[in-house]
Amino acid sequence: MSEKKTWRVAFIGTGMVVQWSHIPSFRRLEGVEAVAVCDVNEERVRSVAKDTGIPQAFTDYREMLEKVQPDITVVATPNIFHKPMTLAALEAGSHVLCEKPLALTYADAKEMMDFAAQKGKVLTVGTHYRYSAPMQAAKAHVDAGFFGEIYAARTVWQRRAGIPGYGSWFTNRDLAGGGSLLDIGVHALDRVLYLMGYPEAVSVTGVSYDKLGKLGVGLGGWGLDISKPGEGVRYDVDDLTWAFVRFANGVSLIFQVAWASHLPEQFFAELYGTKGGANVTNREGVDLYTVLNGQQAHIETNVPVDKVSSYAHLIENFVARLNGDALVDIITPEQALSSVRIVDGIMRSAALGCEVKLDD
Ligand SMILES: NC(=O)c1ccc[n+]([C@@H]2O[C@H](COP(=O)([O-])OP(=O)(O)OC[C@H]3O[C@@H](n4cnc5c(N)ncnc54)[C@H](O)[C@@H]3O)[C@@H](O)[C@H]2O)c1
Repeated sequence: MSEKKTWRVAFIGTGMVVQWSHIPSFRRLEGVEAVAVCDVNEERVRSVAKDTGIPQAFTDYREMLEKVQPDITVVATPNIFHKPMTLAALEAGSHVLCEKPLALTYADAKEMMDFAAQKGKVLTVGTHYRYSAPMQAAKAHVDAGFFGEIYAARTVWQRRAGIPGYGSWFTNRDLAGGGSLLDIGVHALDRVLYLMGYPEAVSVTGVSYDKLGKLGVGLGGWGLDISKPGEGVRYDVDDLTWAFVRFANGVSLIFQVAWASHLPEQFFAELYGTKGGANVTNREGVDLYTVLNGQQAHIETNVPVDKVSSYAHLIENFVARLNGDALVDIITPEQALSSVRIVDGIMRSAALGCEVKLDD
């Protein structure tokens, strides 16, 4: 009997997502060994290595890749580094889980995916919401044809006070590339595209604002290295982005994200179909709407509470794919690129102040 492979995993970046999601999610799996961590913050990388018992710690990712030769590399650093670190890890012979956003432009994301294909490696991205219980519940109704033809959709993730990492890389355009769009927007878009079947987008109109962050209003949530509002804090990314997307099949999408607003929190995806509609929130289950025997019906479905996080499911699916399970629901390169193409269009449209055609 052939012995099952053990996947040796290394992590570039030891910030919040690696500590909270990646390390525990890999460690719950059989046949995976966390072998090394790397961070430019020496104190942090040493303390994460000590607390988790990961044997090797580095401050230079190229040195780590060369010395450790990991089978899997996780890239979870400020967004600007995703591309060079992913390319270096692929070159070193790793499969890669790169955090979202995969890249800051469509051209960069395409180059990364093409390089992964050339190297025969799997490159996937941390857009994990498709694996959440409500999304899986909604997808089952899509696949069963409950909605008929889905002709329009809306995705909204709006926070009241959730500007992450104020004054850190998160709010610095040179390091993050953008704000709410590249952070929660990437998730909001990918989850609705998953339900819509990733249709081909043809044009985008986007608008972005940075009003509240500049005033030091709406701070909260995620991120290390946070500053207090005041002199010298850099804030030059969007904290609200809206967009309207048209697809080749005639479907349209309204997209609204905000890190901060003087309005209540909202988190949902809506599907508009010829036979039914849905509102997918973070409730375990879906709100479905249709007409039953001539009467308007609202059906609240419930699914068992999922004790495993959507992030852990993403990592489980990634490793299953490496183990040769062809049936797993891993985000494909085409799906990842289709999301990035729209985000790239939203950024260009917001900068230009007009609609852009996505005819690459
Ligand atoms: N998928 C998700 O739901 C999710 C959630 C949170 C964050 N993220 C993504 O993960 C990435 C990291 O986010 P975070 O919240 O952990 O940020 P963080 O600020 O907590 O951590 C980033 C870490 O990267 C380190 N770093 C910076 N430059 C480096 C370099 N050149 N080499 C090695 N390490 C370097 C920093 O010192 C820091 O420890 C971001 O791209 C973010 O968008 C994804």
